[in-house]
Amino acid sequence: MRTSCHLRPRGVVSIKIVFFSFFGISVQGSGYPVFIDIHGGGFVGGSGNDASHDGRAIVSLSDVVYVAINYRLGAFGFLATGDPEMPGNYGLWDQNLALKWINENIAYFGGDPNNITIMGYSAGGASVGFHLIAKQSWNFFHRGIMSSGNMMSPFGLELDTQKARDDAFLVGRLAGCGDATNSQQLRACLRQVDEEKLILAANAKALLTTTNVIPLVPVIDGEFITDNPRYLLQQKQFKMCDIMVGNTKDDGSLVAMRAYIGQIPRIKPYSDYETFLDRVRRFTYTYTNDIIVNSIAQQYVDWKDFDDPTTNYFYKYIELITDETFHCPSEHVARAYAMSGLSVYRYYYTWLKPGTVSIPTWYGVGHGTDVQYITNYDVNPSINTNFTEEEMEFSVQMMKYYTNFAKTGNANIGSDPAPTFTWEPFTVPGLNILDQTPNFRAIPGARAEFNAFWNDYLLQLVTFSAEMSEVEHQWREEFNRWKNDDLPAWRQDFQEYQDSGDCTI
Ligand SMILES: *[C@@H]1O[C@H](CO)[C@@H](O)[C@H](O)[C@H]1NC(C)=O
Ligand SMILES: *[C@@H]1O[C@H](CO)[C@@H](O)[C@H](O)[C@H]1NC(C)=O
Repeated sequence: MRTSCHLRPRGVVSIKIVFFSFFGISVQGSGYPVFIDIHGGGFVGGSGNDASHDGRAIVSLSDVVYVAINYRLGAFGFLATGDPEMPGNYGLWDQNLALKWINENIAYFGGDPNNITIMGYSAGGASVGFHLIAKQSWNFFHRGIMSSGNMMSPFGLELDTQKARDDAFLVGRLAGCGDATNSQQLRACLRQVDEEKLILAANAKALLTTTNVIPLVPVIDGEFITDNPRYLLQQKQFKMCDIMVGNTKDDGSLVAMRAYIGQIPRIKPYSDYETFLDRVRRFTYTYTNDIIVNSIAQQYVDWKDFDDPTTNYFYKYIELITDETFHCPSEHVARAYAMSGLSVYRYYYTWLKPGTVSIPTWYGVGHGTDVQYITNYDVNPSINTNFTEEEMEFSVQMMKYYTNFAKTGNANIGSDPAPTFTWEPFTVPGLNILDQTPNFRAIPGARAEFNAFWNDYLLQLVTFSAEMSEVEHQWREEFNRWKNDDLPAWRQDFQEYQDSGDCTI
């Protein structure tokens, strides 16, 4: 028999625990591994109480205690002015408090406080990543799973503090606090605003600013997130523990919806080259200028089709935005951890069950496609899904990998029997990746050239070309023209003058 309970340790944080009980008495003492699920939803939606976070299948299959948590979202969780008035990241502090509470109390629910894994999908995965770089959380868990989101996901963190502050004041104006001229006034005014009105204002802000469809996200506040995660990973300032990290093949199709809104209803989406370049310029998370846009095109365009004016670039955009937003961040984190000698399990989820109909039709193996198999939607009567035998078997294998990792830090050890396919860790060199389909297989180094492009080459290009001022650009262009066109012409003139013998000087 399974039991679940909802608890509210303090304020808005709530916790749902699912665990085994025999004859109504919960299992005590021995201590089962704990699996904490931090829900996704773009830091604006979702809930640990959603059907997708129903832990019944997981606790039935393996002896773990499953806990789903809640935290403040949207403006309540992430409005930030870049100063102590509203430092932001309240939602992450809520998660931190939940982790602390679970660590201190899970033994009373049959859990082992020395065997805790935090797991998250999307914004939940980004959150797990933030706990891995936030010292305040390190003592509360022992392993981390980041699915389709981690601390390097560009959608999950606003690196530009001024932008976050401008956004906060924009939300303020939309909520009727347009008179506020400083953070203190803004905070005082917003505290009087009706909560529904504040939610509407934050969502309207997302529609007005196109760089990130998510209304409000975590920021570098100097306290919870102390610096750019790229720097913290490079400096090895992260929790030294085993991780699992990965993403789906077309994770970025969700992001493509904001860039190609007009294509959402189309069964055969299409983008010509000019539109493609425009979307690369406006709807990537990187700094762009002509050089950068052109080098992204250079990397992704299939040049043998370039002369055909009907060539469709729509799927190229999905490919590159998946790489930028999901695939390359997964690689980045996997490398940082593997190079510190930690166990890393890296996956790439590529399976779409036959007959899947999605909206839009071009969603592909999109964001969230794998979730139904991680928690096994089939056990939940409120979700009307009937797994085929193949899906059920696939789901069991997936749950084994996840819960084995949660138990032992090794995705292959902990279940009886072991998963049918042995998932080898990601190492550098080696770069092993598990292709998650019903026919599990190893695909070492998958998309390595694109990882190198986004994680290494493009960064250098941004550093070099973004620092040049417009004046310097113009000067360089002038200089090049002078050197290449004017100078040879001048030389030629001079030569002709000399050759003419008309040397009267
Ligand atoms: C799933 O199976 C049940 C019982 O076999 C049936 O009542 C239900 O309609 C099925 N749902 C779908 C979506 O096929
Ligand atoms: C966690 O639990 C698993 C399964 O009960 C066990 O094999 C493992 O040794 C435990 N790990 C720690 C660190 O206690």
